[in-house]
Amino acid sequence: MPHNPELMDKIVNLARRRGFVFPGSDIYGGLANSWDYGPLGTELKRNIMDAWWKRFVTSRGDMVGIDAAIIMNPKVWEASGHLAEFTDPLVECKKCHTRFRADQIDTVKACGHCGQKDGFTEPKNFNLMFKTFLGATEDATATAYLRGELAQAMFVDFKLVQETSRKRIPFGIAQQGKCFRNEITPGNFIFRTREFNLMEFEYFVHPSEWEKHFEYWLEEMKSWLDFCGVKRENLVFHEIEDGERAHYSKRTVDIEYHYPFGQKELYGIAYRTDYDVRKHLEASGSDLSYLDPMTNEKYVPHVVEPTFGIDRTTLVVMLEAYDEEDAPTSEDGETEKRVVMRFPKALAPYKVAVLPLSKKPVLSEIAEPLAARLRKRYATDYDETQSIGRRYRRQDEIGTPFCVTVDFDTPNDHKVTVRDRDAMTQDRVTLDELETYLGEKLGF
Ligand code: GAP
Repeated sequence: MPHNPELMDKIVNLARRRGFVFPGSDIYGGLANSWDYGPLGTELKRNIMDAWWKRFVTSRGDMVGIDAAIIMNPKVWEASGHLAEFTDPLVECKKCHTRFRADQIDTVKACGHCGQKDGFTEPKNFNLMFKTFLGATEDATATAYLRGELAQAMFVDFKLVQETSRKRIPFGIAQQGKCFRNEITPGNFIFRTREFNLMEFEYFVHPSEWEKHFEYWLEEMKSWLDFCGVKRENLVFHEIEDGERAHYSKRTVDIEYHYPFGQKELYGIAYRTDYDVRKHLEASGSDLSYLDPMTNEKYVPHVVEPTFGIDRTTLVVMLEAYDEEDAPTSEDGETEKRVVMRFPKALAPYKVAVLPLSKKPVLSEIAEPLAARLRKRYATDYDETQSIGRRYRRQDEIGTPFCVTVDFDTPNDHKVTVRDRDAMTQDRVTLDELETYLGEKLGF
């Protein structure tokens, strides 16, 4: 069921208004398709990355992480085939010379930029690798590339990681970090940008076992998406046909999502065979094969690769969390629109907000130390300005699961009111029992 197209505008506005994501270089008029994560977006993204790392790396015995350099020896990209094959087909409007991805437009129709029907040039392949120069000279000998994917470091470092971590196949190497692609048509907010954040792992397997691992990891990706609050009805599992896959893949399933702007890729899982490790073995002369200590079999490992765009995850988590409802404002039945970001509690930027009913010292003397105490365990916001109704609305819009109100009874009864974002219940809880109460409700 596709999302409502208006939802995208609402998300972009809320992201800016509340400090999730801002246009990059804003005071200089911005830079097209560049975005900065603000304080809340940074927390949300970090929570996603930390939850992923815990789930796929530290809580497992068969996975280790690396954090490799962004600029690698250019021979890496030559051997991996990226310099020759990492391309998108590009056409150019004959009138205004705007460039488009040939697979994303109908070249019989008018140009989407100038509106003229002068036609487009024949498609030609455009390489997406970001070129740069190392040091003071800008010639071919100094040319280097910003990584277009994380994967190559996991292949190049395979032997070092396997030997130092003493892992046996099957095992995986995971990484999170920035990647760069000179996209022809970036756009749709943080969906497609030229620098983006990725998390992925290469799972090294015996060649006879790849299908079993492929199915297993596809199920694990679905379960991760459940955790992120993504409804299955908004997902499409798209088996990529022969001829359509990346140059290294023998099987790929794209996990697509019904964005407000159409059904497009969210994640992917690929069976990369032994393509990459073998290419690096041949090009570098290093023996990257694996000797199974149990069977004495020596082979080049095959790879199953689940890949997760971090910015797309952040976008989808925001799209899924967005909710509007009519909320009563008074006893006589008047209502107003209430916008709530129903983030999964583990991902919400703030878990708790402490809201003293007024700025009077009699309340802040209790509320400030309470917030400091809660911060030791949970990301906690503190807000004492404006009416309590406006403060609740702000916390709803940034998805804070619990608001703790310190009122004029608190100094006497040592109790606070805890408001639940989703159930809208208000419980009176003693200060001593607050952490236990929140721990039970949050589940961590
Ligand atoms: N190592 C495999 C690989 O990089 P990919 O499908 O080219 O595969 C992986 O990219 C993921 O990175 C995609 O599923 C998507 O989530 C994200 N991604 C790719 N290009 C992107 C871009 N220009 N902006 C934001 N995210 C992007």
